[in-house]
Amino acid sequence: MASLMAGEQGTGLHVAIIMDGNGRWATRRGLPRVAGHRAGVAAVRRVVERALDAGIGRLTLYAFSSDNWRRPASEVQSIFWLLRAFLRLEAERLRQRSVRLRVIGRRDRLTQPALRAIEKAESVTADGSRLQLYVAIDYSSRDAITRAAAAVTENLLNRRPASADLLGSLLAHTLAANGGEVDLLIRTGGEKRLSDFLLWESAYAELLFVDCMWPDFSGSDLDAALEEFSRRQRRFGALPNPRENHVPVATHG
Ligand code: FPP
Repeated sequence: MASLMAGEQGTGLHVAIIMDGNGRWATRRGLPRVAGHRAGVAAVRRVVERALDAGIGRLTLYAFSSDNWRRPASEVQSIFWLLRAFLRLEAERLRQRSVRLRVIGRRDRLTQPALRAIEKAESVTADGSRLQLYVAIDYSSRDAITRAAAAVTENLLNRRPASADLLGSLLAHTLAANGGEVDLLIRTGGEKRLSDFLLWESAYAELLFVDCMWPDFSGSDLDAALEEFSRRQRRFGALPNPRENHVPVATHG
């Protein structure tokens, strides 16, 4: 498992999680949906702890998609209240564990209190080096790619020197800012779709869809996911290497 945990970029395995199923978890118990989100935060704490124990280098959690604005205002408010509470209450604990937290996604539509909580948590944890924790808020992968492409266009219109692979390098920059290539993408809640999450970064990710609702996802479920990942043969379009599980160089095809 040790070599697998290094990930493809040598900066630690990158695990990304679509935390789905909070609402159904609550509804099945006769509880309001917000109770599912609250239980979802507890699952986030458990999974971060286990990610540290397991030696995962990068963990990206999909907390609020740009399409989630379409939910009732009361649910949106509850999710942001929980997010702010998490950032406020957990930042110090994360710092002590050498976890660096960063938020990815748009910031121009967030409230001032949410922005302040994000900036504070990012600055408190800025020196963390054991685990890079990315929380996606108001995140849309298409939007991130479109913005990178728009930056290229602006560059060209302004007749700044442009190299042929400027788009590639801008997208690579977007990638780097978001934790880079995903090695393992997990979605809980039984649905099998990507929902506009890290589309570019997951080009060669191993995908794992599990039926468990997010609030029930435990440290041992993460262990089981890593076990499953270790059994996958990653080829990146090349032919299987009879002696190695991993093909070292990513080629396309
Ligand atoms: C998806 O379940 C979950 C969300 C849209 C919100 C996720 C938010 C949290 C777990 C809380 C905060 C996160 C962090 C990082 C502290 P759903 O509501 O779509 O569930 P359903 O498909 O059963 O309706």
